[in-house]
Amino acid sequence: MTEPKTKVLLSREEIAQKVKHLAGEVSRDYSGKTPLLICVLKGAVVFLSDLMRFLDIPVEIDFMAVSSYGKSTHTSGVVRILKDLEGSIEGKDVIIIEDIVDTGLTLDYLRENLLSRNPRSLKIAALLDKPERRKVQIEPDYRGFYIPDEFVVGYGLDFNEKYRNLPHISVLLEFE
Ligand code: IMP
Ligand code: MG
Repeated sequence: MTEPKTKVLLSREEIAQKVKHLAGEVSRDYSGKTPLLICVLKGAVVFLSDLMRFLDIPVEIDFMAVSSYGKSTHTSGVVRILKDLEGSIEGKDVIIIEDIVDTGLTLDYLRENLLSRNPRSLKIAALLDKPERRKVQIEPDYRGFYIPDEFVVGYGLDFNEKYRNLPHISVLLEFE
């Protein structure tokens, strides 16, 4: 198999600078609190691990996995919980940590699902936002970058489970 062509969209330096900036906002907004960061597996794992190390407030973390794209680059619109949280979120200040908002279906589902568990507050942090593809009205409270409607990989994001380990974010130019 020949390797697909990729083109760097966001360098590791640009990402680090942005994540640090977002962490500053979160630290300020949650000063005196201990938010629970809920990482949406698997794509957000790199974002979470970088973001949490730039925070200067105490945090808790938990993980959730939902089905999204499966093995294709097109969303099915069906969201399913593959792995649920370890603990209760009742009365907690929750921040969903997500890699990218595309159609918004995943986050819309997650938001409703988590709100039904009675957190004290619920916010969304997404590193990337592809606004052109939105199908439901949802806006992250903390947003890293707006990106064009192209399929990206790296910094946690995959194509068929590959490229998650790239330190930068690249556009996949040829695939399938
Ligand atoms: P949504 O439900 O359409 O907003 O899709 C969100 C999920 O689809 C994200 O959490 C990603 O896992 C995946 N996704 C969306 N766009 C891309 C992309 O460009 N590259 C890799 N994964 C993506
Ligand atoms: Mg994801």
